[in-house]
Amino acid sequence: IPMGDMCRDNIDCEYFFSVDVDVVLKNEDTLRILIELNKPFIAPMMTKPGLLWTNFWGALSADGYYARSEDYVDIVQGHRVGLWNVPYVSHIFLMKADVLRTDLKDPDLFESATLDPDMAFCSKVRNKGVFMFVTNVHTYGRVLSTENYQTNHLHNDLWQVFENPVEWEERYIHENYSKVLKDGFIETPCPDVYWFPVFTDVACKHLIEEMEHFGQWSGGGNTDNRIQGGYENVPTIDIHMNQVGYEKEWHKFLLDYVAPVTEKMYPGYYTRAQFDLAFVVRYKPDEQPALRPHHDASTFTINIALNQVGIDYQGGGCRFLRYNCSIDAPRRGWALMHPGRLTHYHEGLPTVEGVRYIVVSFVDP
Ligand SMILES: *[C@@H]1O[C@H](CO)[C@@H](O)[C@H](O)[C@H]1NC(C)=O
Ligand SMILES: *[C@@H]1O[C@H](CO)[C@@H](O)[C@H](O)[C@H]1NC(C)=O
Repeated sequence: IPMGDMCRDNIDCEYFFSVDVDVVLKNEDTLRILIELNKPFIAPMMTKPGLLWTNFWGALSADGYYARSEDYVDIVQGHRVGLWNVPYVSHIFLMKADVLRTDLKDPDLFESATLDPDMAFCSKVRNKGVFMFVTNVHTYGRVLSTENYQTNHLHNDLWQVFENPVEWEERYIHENYSKVLKDGFIETPCPDVYWFPVFTDVACKHLIEEMEHFGQWSGGGNTDNRIQGGYENVPTIDIHMNQVGYEKEWHKFLLDYVAPVTEKMYPGYYTRAQFDLAFVVRYKPDEQPALRPHHDASTFTINIALNQVGIDYQGGGCRFLRYNCSIDAPRRGWALMHPGRLTHYHEGLPTVEGVRYIVVSFVDP
């Protein structure tokens, strides 16, 4: 059924509210606010985080396309707040049904020989003398960026850290991560070993499932053609991030969420979060239960537990030999951060039941 017909033909329909699938509506009062503004056609301003993009145009060019108005940037950035009569809106709007039955009763509102459907629609609305308003008095939400959405993975949202960073953070970063930097929500279980929440349960689940879906776990032998030199001194059963095409996204995660913690806890050390090796390890009693003492090829290492001790597995953990200090109750979604070499000789403690997963990065090798 073409847009609006159901409302136009139903005498009980008072308003027509159109919302595209890529709209993330965060303000639950949106509809009430729009109705109270009492305009025949009104849209809440929507933005894309970090961009000057919105769902309205401030002006039109001579040929009917986009033009930036003098006050556009001020309106987008909230320096000017109000109700604005504009020549084009998209993605979300509220229309009074009587407008659909009178000025906009033409069923071919979106048809045009030359213009895209959304522009054809706005052009017809303008030509019928219906004023389109946009309000930025409140914040209402945002529009997802749907370009470059990858569809070849099991959990494609993991790859959205560049395109939709706000959604990515809401979904994947632990609710208490913000307190790590602000309130020092961070523990020191062993000397110079820091422990902080970083991933949500969903992030942990998606990473495990993505790796199991890919399925090409290494054999755990010393010969490893995935790494430079082809020889791994302390092999684990693992899958590297570059095997699943996640190294750029992982680097962004390290830069945005780990580097600030590193710089806070190891003052004077600045990192660009470079890594050759980032991988998910699988520990299993009948496969590889533990890892013998070793140094890491890193300045510092990040080790995030992906599942739950006592539920998914028994045993596990990490022991720093120099301090005879163990983290034997790993917490899902929490990262251990420790120096890689010299002082922090460490071992992976045996997983005695179930399957344990961790994600490890050797940063600044
Ligand atoms: C975040 O921290 C609060 C206070 O310590 C705690 O009650 C809450 O369970 C934590 N959230 C998660 C997801 O662990
Ligand atoms: C190491 O710590 C464990 C308990 O955590 C203790 O039983 C053991 O004696 C310690 N070893 C040394 C050499 O101090």
